[in-house]
Amino acid sequence: MKKLTLTALAAFALTASAAYADVIKVGIIGPMSGPFALQGKNFKAGIDAYIAEHGNKIGDDTIEVIYRDVPQADPAQSKSLAQELIIKEKVQYLGGFFFTPDAMAVTPILQQANVPMVVMNAATSTIVTKSPYVVRTSFTTWQTSLPIAQVALDKGAKKVITVVSDYGPGIDAENAFKAGFTKIGGDVVETIRMPLNTNDFSPIMQRVKDSGAEGVFAFLPAGPTTLGFMKSYVDNGLKSAGVQLFAPGDLTQESDLPALGEAALGVLTTFHYALSHDSAENKKFVEDARKAIGNPEELSFPSVGAYDGMHVIYKMIEATGGKQDAAKAVDAVKGMEWMSPRGPVSIDAETRHITQNIYLREVAKADDGTYYNKEIQAFEKQGDPGLDAQ
Ligand code: PHB
Repeated sequence: MKKLTLTALAAFALTASAAYADVIKVGIIGPMSGPFALQGKNFKAGIDAYIAEHGNKIGDDTIEVIYRDVPQADPAQSKSLAQELIIKEKVQYLGGFFFTPDAMAVTPILQQANVPMVVMNAATSTIVTKSPYVVRTSFTTWQTSLPIAQVALDKGAKKVITVVSDYGPGIDAENAFKAGFTKIGGDVVETIRMPLNTNDFSPIMQRVKDSGAEGVFAFLPAGPTTLGFMKSYVDNGLKSAGVQLFAPGDLTQESDLPALGEAALGVLTTFHYALSHDSAENKKFVEDARKAIGNPEELSFPSVGAYDGMHVIYKMIEATGGKQDAAKAVDAVKGMEWMSPRGPVSIDAETRHITQNIYLREVAKADDGTYYNKEIQAFEKQGDPGLDAQ
């Protein structure tokens, strides 16, 4: 009898706390340890900067952010942590997702769980088509790779070889570059797809040399991978031989520039965000995100995807008055426009992907001897060309 009463009481307490919930939990999944830990740290820095600027309260509700670690692309682990966050932690929102496979694995459970997912990095075009509850505040590799095709041709590279990691965003990047480059009369002489865990790039560089290409287009997920690839490009003599490198900005992320030094100087990339972007919003963001991350040299682009992702989640919480209603939350951010640290952005009402400027940048050396991505041209208001291409 006593046991039954206690159970009933516990059940009542649960219902009561759900009805008057004043803590709204946001679950963030990303690489918090291991070789890509810096990227998870950047998610957290962007989120912390947003909360430092806007507070952790929306009306009477308190926002609580909970982190879960998926060190490398691991869809099974990502899905089980998302389930744990939903069932045990009762998160109302999911966010983060550095690697595409980790985002893809979670999309099938969103609708039943009544939880929106804000993708803060993963960049394969089709992720947003997998569930109506996905919104993306990062970029796609179609979006960041297509504009560099014209740049390559303008720089006199007519024969280009592509080298990409063999998974979603790499294949999208290859297709984007190839489509753009061949359309304007360029010639893709060979396409190489490398396993995601490749860390010896010398054989690849040999193939690039042997291909006789005047330029190489490359995409790898930002991290130890890109650092290794860039070093190998230089160490194997391709840069000095005049084989020009064209890539989306993952390859020259700011946190890699101190280690790359002169090796990266002059490399041209196209991307949605540079830490050097000249605006009041960005100055404030960089200052606050650097404070959050601790070591200023560690700040990189996933921080801005996370900062803007938090902006979207705050808007969702406001629109639903803190109640769990994923459909209403997602509807509220369709067409939303704001000034991001990267420049003007909006959430496309149809695709739920971010429309933004893509910038051509060159790695340059500042007066104080540090290296940075210098914006030299803007391709304005780019949607995701990858979705049209499907
Ligand atoms: C992805 O897996 O979608 C991804 C990861 C790292 C990047 C870009 C895309 O730099």
